[in-house]
Amino acid sequence: MSDIGWGILGTGGIAHTFAKDLIDDGHIVAAVGSRSQGSADAFADEFGIPVAHGSYDDLVADDDVDVVYIATPHPAHADNAELALNAGKHVLIEKPFTLNAAEAQRVVDLAGDRDLVVMEAMWTRFLPHVERIRDLVNRGILGEVREFAADHMQLLSSDPGHRINALELGGGALLDLGIYPVSFASMLFGTPEQVEASARFGATGADAATAAVFRYGDAALAAVRCALDLRGTNTATITGTRARIEIDSVWYAPTNFRVVAHEGHLMEEYKSRVFGRGMQFQAREIERLIEEGLTASDIMPPEESVSIMRTLDDIRARIGLVYPQER
Ligand SMILES: NC(=O)c1ccc[n+]([C@@H]2O[C@H](COP(=O)([O-])OP(=O)(O)OC[C@H]3O[C@@H](n4cnc5c(N)ncnc54)[C@H](OP(=O)(O)O)[C@@H]3O)[C@@H](O)[C@H]2O)c1
Repeated sequence: MSDIGWGILGTGGIAHTFAKDLIDDGHIVAAVGSRSQGSADAFADEFGIPVAHGSYDDLVADDDVDVVYIATPHPAHADNAELALNAGKHVLIEKPFTLNAAEAQRVVDLAGDRDLVVMEAMWTRFLPHVERIRDLVNRGILGEVREFAADHMQLLSSDPGHRINALELGGGALLDLGIYPVSFASMLFGTPEQVEASARFGATGADAATAAVFRYGDAALAAVRCALDLRGTNTATITGTRARIEIDSVWYAPTNFRVVAHEGHLMEEYKSRVFGRGMQFQAREIERLIEEGLTASDIMPPEESVSIMRTLDDIRARIGLVYPQER
């Protein structure tokens, strides 16, 4: 097992989920850092983490921390990542990578200057069913892939102060939920040549639902939908000239899928066998990169995270969503 030490920055919802998967998968969580000593202590007690820091500065200065996992609201990601990189730490940054592409480029440039690993925590890409799907697509089992369609719709808090709704915390369906199908489309087809989008808005001015269509020349189309006030099917379909993949709900988490030929017969039935939420696979990838002296994952390359943020910027320009930090 690796002796790489993780530091967890932020003690909210996803930090809990990730810490559990990390520890259950046998990784070393060396320290946790919070804006308050009380939250850091409570988190450390819950997970048996040896050191609790009452500031992010102290966390990134900890010699036992090699890689910092950033689990704060989106507008804080870039500053938190820069803090960690400037302290010489590798970083795994929750999705969306940053608030916008300009911030994303800044973080990637700094990591490059410092020769450190930076990766977006787009955990879906590292899941075994997605690894298998990449393999099927790359081997041409579907023929030429022409279409991807997916929804990500959850019934989340309607509290205007909750980060999902609060504009100053990067609220809205697109950056929180829509990023999953946007990122998956990027994995399949690259950067779209043309983007169309429409949204409806909630009381705070954050997008409650967004739908977007991407065109990749005459090669392919992708249709993505997200909403934070509806429960959707949360399924996805990848269609090629010979066959399609139908990914079951919840398509972006460990799940099953079928490969169905256009003639109608079942070509493959994939059954998921993942324990926990499935966030450990991205941790294994970061540790592999560090151990092999690499700085960029070819499964979730930093430059692709910048490109995904550009696509999200493009969608936001079309629906008219500007965050207060950008005004
Ligand atoms: N991969 C996934 O499945 C997944 C799921 C949910 C969320 N996420 C992503 O993870 C990030 C955090 O989401 P979350 O749901 O965990 O959020 P959350 O429960 O609100 O926790 C965020 C944490 O960030 C810290 N923080 C720093 N500045 C803050 C500020 N100005 N306001 C509030 N908290 C602040 C706080 O920790 P301290 O008080 O300890 O400093 C807080 O507990 C988001 O970018 C989100 O997109 C990913």
